[in-house]
Amino acid sequence: MITRAEAEILLQKYIESESLINHCQMVAKAMQSYAETLNKDHKEIDSWWLAGLLHDLDWEMFPDEHPNKAINDILPVYDIPENVIQAIRTHAPERTGAEPKSEIERYLFASDEISGFMNAVSLMRPNGFSDMKVKSVNKKLKDARFAANVSREDIRKGADLINKDLAEHIQFLIEVFRSK
Ligand SMILES: [Fe+2]
Ligand SMILES: [Fe+2]
Repeated sequence: MITRAEAEILLQKYIESESLINHCQMVAKAMQSYAETLNKDHKEIDSWWLAGLLHDLDWEMFPDEHPNKAINDILPVYDIPENVIQAIRTHAPERTGAEPKSEIERYLFASDEISGFMNAVSLMRPNGFSDMKVKSVNKKLKDARFAANVSREDIRKGADLINKDLAEHIQFLIEVFRSK
């Protein structure tokens, strides 16, 4: 399997936007933390991290083909496990026709939109994640004008897919992102 350092270089090769790289790193961190919490072995923890890191690899250069360009043409060239590629395929079911089913797929779907949303919330706060509460995230979720491009439906679907209360999921991620 591709090393973490090689994966970071691959990410830099396809993405210039610092905010998109930050998003990828946040989702990778969320995935790693969930894999650890679920007592996965080292190899699986690396796979979960990798799925998070590379899930939006082609978003900047091939927005219309995302994520099909990555799963069909870019990722297969590298030594990347099939379950990681499948997780990347299912993080965008409306574009690939493939719904998240396995655990890594469901957790990636569940970690993606909410991480982007929570990052937007953190940028509005003087202390970012350090004193963020679930309540502050919920308040922004109810404000349809805030980060309007983030699908609230997908956020709720994600929490359902991992059988968690959305509040519990958000609390877990606050702790993950706080220790950035
Ligand atoms: Fe995406
Ligand atoms: Fe994403």
